[in-house]
Amino acid sequence: MTNRVKSGIPGLDQLIEGGFVEGSCILLAGQTGTGKTIFGCQFLLEGAKSGERCFYLSLEESPEDIVNDVKRFTWGNEFQRFVENKTIQIEFLMPSDIKELSSYIKNVVGSGNIRRFVLDNLSVAMMGWSESSLEIGKIRADVFNLFKMLKSKKITSLILVEIPEERTRAVSRFGFEEFIADSVIILNYLEFGTGTSVRSLLIRKMRRTKHAVDIFPFQISDEGIKISYSKPI
Ligand SMILES: Nc1ncnc2c1ncn2[C@@H]1O[C@H](COP(=O)(O)OP(=O)(O)O)[C@@H](O)[C@H]1O
Ligand SMILES: [Mg+2]
Repeated sequence: MTNRVKSGIPGLDQLIEGGFVEGSCILLAGQTGTGKTIFGCQFLLEGAKSGERCFYLSLEESPEDIVNDVKRFTWGNEFQRFVENKTIQIEFLMPSDIKELSSYIKNVVGSGNIRRFVLDNLSVAMMGWSESSLEIGKIRADVFNLFKMLKSKKITSLILVEIPEERTRAVSRFGFEEFIADSVIILNYLEFGTGTSVRSLLIRKMRRTKHAVDIFPFQISDEGIKISYSKPI
């Protein structure tokens, strides 16, 4: 029997057999402004409500900025209270390489009973890493080991990935991250010729899950991210 954890995104769990597979590693990819950070916060809030310890590792924004980003949402104050009482711990790190990132995360997950983890985001972490073909095998192995370590602790992890603007068809920087992750969710902005656009979510893969394969529209409102119609575009 596969244990499921609620995603914290209204409308998503019914598309994925009730929730994420507990202890799995989910890649959440999207261009800037598609809602990755908000998604990550809702995912942790859901866990915090059930008393789960949650960790948000930010390589981009300060913890204060993240709290301020979500403060306006209807659940913003609740989120802030969980941050204040450390049910949700947010830390900022500027790692110079994956070794530093991995050992930091290893320390964090080894020190307490963390159930949910968000890394915001892997693309920032990889910025300085070499793209030469000699190194790519090594980076792949390092990222693989990082995901493996999180899984071995049965921590459900959301790894955010920035899709570059000019490469809309790419999911990740090196093109292997999506193969290593158990699940891949892509957030997008679909533009129509008419000048209108709609936010959309696609479950690209989810191991051990019979998931919806369509593209679903979603909204960001004062309530945060919500998939209102389980009807595909
Ligand atoms: N109250 C709100 N109502 C509607 N949209 C919002 C609201 N707050 C933020 N947004 C949208 O969310 C976007 C930011 O989402 P964020 O999770 O920070 O994106 P990412 O992390 O993918 O760059 C903003 O660009 C804006 O479009
Ligand atoms: Mg962000």
